[in-house]
Amino acid sequence: MKHRLFLALAIVVLVLFAIAFGVGSTPSAPTPAPSVEISTATSLRSLAETRGISIGAAVELEPFYNDARYRQVLAREFNTLVPENAFKFQFLHPNRDRYDFSHVDRLVEFAKAHKMQVRGSPLVWHYAQPDWLNQGQFTREELLGILRTHIQEVVGRYRGQVFAWDVVNEALNRDGSLRDTIWLRHIGPEYIDLAFRWAHEADPNARLFYSDYGNDELGRKSNAMYTMVAGLLQRGVPIDGVGLQTHKRLGYAPRLNLLSENIQRLEKLGLEVQFTELDITIQDGTGSQEQRFMEQAQTYRSLLQTCLAFRSCTAFITWGFTDRYTWLGSLTGQLEAPLLFDESYRPKPAYYALKDVLSSQSGK
Ligand code: XIL
Repeated sequence: MKHRLFLALAIVVLVLFAIAFGVGSTPSAPTPAPSVEISTATSLRSLAETRGISIGAAVELEPFYNDARYRQVLAREFNTLVPENAFKFQFLHPNRDRYDFSHVDRLVEFAKAHKMQVRGSPLVWHYAQPDWLNQGQFTREELLGILRTHIQEVVGRYRGQVFAWDVVNEALNRDGSLRDTIWLRHIGPEYIDLAFRWAHEADPNARLFYSDYGNDELGRKSNAMYTMVAGLLQRGVPIDGVGLQTHKRLGYAPRLNLLSENIQRLEKLGLEVQFTELDITIQDGTGSQEQRFMEQAQTYRSLLQTCLAFRSCTAFITWGFTDRYTWLGSLTGQLEAPLLFDESYRPKPAYYALKDVLSSQSGK
């Protein structure tokens, strides 16, 4: 009897032990490391504001709707919000006679509530276009009408709420020639002038940008871009600035002198320059993850220092902010870890490097 009681007791203890320590159960996700609380007083945005520069991040809808920590860090650290995809033609204008503004409206509402600016990107791009547009057999006149209506509907709706637009995105090939797009093919190169003019009509106070990748350092593409934007200015086309996307990888350090010279010549034209889609992947780097993060931090540091050295450089925007959500992971399937916060929202060395630059460097 005594033995049986002892056995039963032992079984109960064992079962309790198993439950408490998860023995035999399906493994659950590791408990997320606690994210470090950072006070608003020393956030990136508060430091950036004292330097008169916009600090921003691209925002994806899935985490925006479903991850409270994502929204919290976004509002705490950044004063500029860029919808990562929601402004693209395909999502905003899914049928010829139907727009879906619902997601951008939510983002704009959030930005307002947190005293953030909204940057719009892009109005004209060859990518992320809906089938009705790509596959439609339109005449030149029809395409002119489609582009004009799209730009004016979108810019008009957010008049006074979107401070800057990438009006034309990635219109140039690497060799500097104009990219073959439906706009170029059916309208001709003047689609670029027209897009800027229509955007300006719809919101005369919004700042209008041409944006591209691989245009940050002196080179064939940036030379062609320089000639193009100088031409726009000469013709009186309302362009205010140039966006440098600046997608970088470790192992290919930015050549800062070539970057500076490029910004300088754009500044001389009277244009603003904004870093619009920064990220720095670590896959091509060397050493441990820790060493790569340090090198990544150094690269972010030098890019921000370069921006702050120019009056014309008005924004520093990363393409996302946490390694948990980055477009590059889905592109390569690897942990590219290109951003300022790790997957658990802990600030990385890159984050501290930017803060350090914002709080110490003179200039501007
Ligand atoms: C990317 C988004 O980040 C992805 O989620 C999407 O699948 C494709 O577009 N240049 C641009 C951005 O101008 O709009 C692109 O964004 C990245 C490259």
